[in-house]
Amino acid sequence: MRGLLPVSRMTSGRGRRRSAAGEPAVATLVPMCGIVGYVGGQQAIDVVMDGLRRLEYRGYDSAGVALVEAGSLHTAKRAGKLANLDKALAHEHPVPATTGIGHTRWATHGAPNDVNAHPHTDAAGRVAVIHNGIIENFAELRVGLERRGHDLVSETDTEVVAHLLGEELSRHDGDLVAAMHGVCRDLAGAFTLVAVAAADPDRLVAARRSSPLVVGLGDGENFVASDVSAFIAHTREALELGQDQVVEVTRDSVTVTDFAGAAAEATPYHVDWDASAAEKGGYAWFMLKEIDEQPRAIADTLLGRMAADGSLQLDEMRLSDEELRVVDKVIIIACGTAFYSGLVAKYAIEHWTRLPCEVELASEFRYRDPVVDRSTLVVAISQSGETMDTLMAIRYARAQRARVLAICNTNGSTIPRESDAVIYTRAGPEIAVASTKGFLSQIVACHLLGLYLAQVRGTKYGDEVKAILDQLHRVPAQVQRVLDDADQVRVLARDLAGSTSVLFLGRHTGFPVALEGALKLKELAYLHAEGFAAGELKHGPIALVDIGVPVFVVVPPRGRDAIHAKMLSNIQEVRARGARTIVLAEEGDDEVAGHADEVIWLPRVPTLLQPLVATVPLQIFACEVATALGHDVDQPRNLAKSVTVE
Ligand code: G6P
Repeated sequence: MRGLLPVSRMTSGRGRRRSAAGEPAVATLVPMCGIVGYVGGQQAIDVVMDGLRRLEYRGYDSAGVALVEAGSLHTAKRAGKLANLDKALAHEHPVPATTGIGHTRWATHGAPNDVNAHPHTDAAGRVAVIHNGIIENFAELRVGLERRGHDLVSETDTEVVAHLLGEELSRHDGDLVAAMHGVCRDLAGAFTLVAVAAADPDRLVAARRSSPLVVGLGDGENFVASDVSAFIAHTREALELGQDQVVEVTRDSVTVTDFAGAAAEATPYHVDWDASAAEKGGYAWFMLKEIDEQPRAIADTLLGRMAADGSLQLDEMRLSDEELRVVDKVIIIACGTAFYSGLVAKYAIEHWTRLPCEVELASEFRYRDPVVDRSTLVVAISQSGETMDTLMAIRYARAQRARVLAICNTNGSTIPRESDAVIYTRAGPEIAVASTKGFLSQIVACHLLGLYLAQVRGTKYGDEVKAILDQLHRVPAQVQRVLDDADQVRVLARDLAGSTSVLFLGRHTGFPVALEGALKLKELAYLHAEGFAAGELKHGPIALVDIGVPVFVVVPPRGRDAIHAKMLSNIQEVRARGARTIVLAEEGDDEVAGHADEVIWLPRVPTLLQPLVATVPLQIFACEVATALGHDVDQPRNLAKSVTVE
């Protein structure tokens, strides 16, 4: 059996420093990954592979499994997407194991080859481990292991853990829980670890520090995973592990301890998402399904926010009105698409609350010595709730005594848990790597926050808050109309799929929409795409405009006459230089038609809400161009959905 290799038959020694493909193993791999573990009555390989399929969005550079059966470990791992591992397993005799672990990896540097794929084992093949995160002191630990005669075959930090676990197992008479305690105490950095031991076929042991891990509680079976999507087909009852905890899982028991071995508490919770939400349901791509789910995502995010008297209520808000009244500055931190939702929010928050609002990339925030104190409200926006850059930024902010509020789509994830307050977006699981419904629901949640601040601080009257809430409640139907009229965008996408460069222009809230439109095209279609503030065009980017270059222009609603007129001039400027202009404008804006090669009509909404309708055609455009080019829309090259390394 080649695919599922009994570990005891794996050779050790220098020969294993090369992968099957013959490439040398590479230094300092830092995985950021999907993790699943199972103990129960079902065939572990089926449950684990199914879990990995649902987690593959977290990384897809390589995948592997380890199964425990009759005193031995069987592992299989393959570079590339999960399909490669699947294919390898299809040729093998099944291993009738009921305990197993699986891993899907996203490499930050180094080759994603077979050797570096997880699980990793100790030399004797007694223990297998999978890992997400970074063991910061791994080099030092490795030197110690080598001095003690260990021969490591990859240069991953994870293999170091496997060897340390092997040593600790000997020290603790084969007790995997005690071994895990011992190892975790010596590790620095962020990690989720899940281990199984050959001699202990009915148990798995997991640990976490600053990296995601949830336990799924079944009937006669239990699960561990990076997130609940791996097991919601089996159970919706989950346990949220705390920081620096170890969990021992058998089919009938779940025991939580701290790294010192003392009994510890984890928090049980019920997962609301229904299992079908994590399925494709007939769509070619998760992304198409998630684009179509946007009206529901917005409606759900708005659900139950209005009190009987028409005022806004935010149930999960754990900050008192008093704490919100003393806020004198808002700083929004986020990454990627979530960052662009923050840019949209800035316009609304400043306008409604008169508070200064900065928006900062999470990866930059703590390195510039930002002015943050106890009267700063830091808002962290993250769909996954696990983005390491954002997490590190909020830890920094809290150390400066700022109040931190998370806007997040994932219950039980680390960012809301480490924040003082949270507003959950209720978009349901977002599987496609490129965020769509996550983005729109983040904008809605930001608007709710802005309105709430305005209500508490008295910068908007109650009837004004209610009028904006009413407008927000009309948005799901308006987004639905954009979706229903999207054939024009699909045709356009097929027509423009051969473009080498596409530009996006916007002003005011149209500017972040332009940035997001360009990001989507980069992520999915691997095209050169850039978004600009339209006023900035003449200061440089206009040099990119050439005959036939497609330029998307987001025109603001006519209520903002000054910027509306300026946008019309900007369209003329690029058109005069040969650009093909595709203009997004509100219905009835007849003035734009004469300036555009093509107009995509948008429902009429106030300027501050326009991104909620204007982004949708750009999402569809990117998805269709990528499809026409033959790319994997849900899993674009080099990307991962949940980036849990800095
Ligand atoms: C990754 C994803 C992006 C996402 C960003 C922030 O880079 O590929 O689509 O916008 O992370 O993710 P978050 O979960 O924090 O919203």
